[in-house]
Amino acid sequence: MSTEVIVVNGGNPLKGVVPITGAKNSVLKLMAASLLGPGVSTIDNVPIISDVTLMGEVLTCLGASVTFGDHRVTLDTSRIDSIETPYELVAKMRASIAVLGPLIGRFGEARVAMPGGCNLGARKLDLHIVGLEALGVVFEIEHGLIHATTPQGLHGASVLLEFASVGATENLMMAATRAQGTTVIDNAAREPEIVDLAEFLIQMGARIQGQGTTTIQIEGTDALRPVAHHRTVADRIEAGTFLVAGALGGGPLTVQGANPQHLQIALTKLEALGCELVTTDDSITVSRSAALRAVDIQTLPYPGFPTDLQAQFMVLDVLAEGSSVITENVFENRFMFADEISRMGAVLRIEGHHALITGVRQLSGAPVQAPDLRGGAALVLAGLVADGQTTVSAIEHIDRGYEHFVEKLRAVGADISRREQ
Ligand code: UD1
Repeated sequence: MSTEVIVVNGGNPLKGVVPITGAKNSVLKLMAASLLGPGVSTIDNVPIISDVTLMGEVLTCLGASVTFGDHRVTLDTSRIDSIETPYELVAKMRASIAVLGPLIGRFGEARVAMPGGCNLGARKLDLHIVGLEALGVVFEIEHGLIHATTPQGLHGASVLLEFASVGATENLMMAATRAQGTTVIDNAAREPEIVDLAEFLIQMGARIQGQGTTTIQIEGTDALRPVAHHRTVADRIEAGTFLVAGALGGGPLTVQGANPQHLQIALTKLEALGCELVTTDDSITVSRSAALRAVDIQTLPYPGFPTDLQAQFMVLDVLAEGSSVITENVFENRFMFADEISRMGAVLRIEGHHALITGVRQLSGAPVQAPDLRGGAALVLAGLVADGQTTVSAIEHIDRGYEHFVEKLRAVGADISRREQ
């Protein structure tokens, strides 16, 4: 665990402009996809976060040369001399499994450590496995590694995903770019990050249609080339997190470099909560003069309300007039944050995948522990408006996905700092 904590003194007004970087959940896959096009690819608008550094290590481990510049990563994937991603890295970051599809596509073989707690064929990776099997991949488990081979080569197939899994859609799409024939993914995930990945692959020479819809069609090609330049799509979750900060503090707070089209339901919920919004093509400004009004929220695959904003919006409902229900439909066990915010005076009860919330007027600052990335950010947001001081520990979770989180909040007026515990 990190020895540092984030200390927030609540009550400062938050006003100003927060710059938004590229999406963590896109750039990790773009970096993995660079394996498909031997040579030098350059990706811009890269967030400086620990998950990106880790994906750099994963690729370095495979033989790629990875260089970070100013919000830029340059990847030379000409000489890949390993097809194995070790457990130490996969255990630190589940998204490491995004190299599975590209390795299979380029080499017809991959060995990727199983993420902890997962069994082959059991939930969590089953959709990746079943889909890739349809393309001709054969899987075996050996020494805790998933060994994927393609004894008969990789061929196109129709795959109907049981659930619109982001990771499975991406792995399938990447492998299928190098299959013989056409692959059709039905019930595909539609997240903006999937579209970004498809656009990156198309720049590599892949033939992909339907990205952003529920049916993606990929016609395999013999070879792909590196990408001279690609700008990562804006991080809608980072933007949504800062909008919640603005909504809590009253604003006006602007997220600059964010695409309002990618946050439609979240913006609708902010309005229902009592906020005013002004949008341009690449910015969103939130302000609020009235009291927060409770709203019900349910998470769903895109374009539904993002599970990655569930904890942050829970802070708004916790402080709203009235009662609300937040329903988590995407992940199990994603209410760990609720226990921590209860320690700050929130009134809520968890029943299955529902959180039943009764709004309170004020939270009180407390020592709390980040349960995960988004829950950690949400605790910091709660601290911004709580009475007194909140100390958030286990902040390595926050560093995984938010670039300069503390500095960006301080720049819009928050009384916040990092310090050694
Ligand atoms: C990605 C995002 C994560 C986000 C999630 C949903 C990255 C690095 N992470 O995760 O931040 O919260 O999308 O928007 O991009 N499932 C299975 N079997 C599978 C695959 C998934 O049962 O083979 C289940 C998962 O357990 C989960 C649900 O499907 O309950 C959604 O998972 P998925 O969409 O695959 O999320 P990730 O790609 O892991």
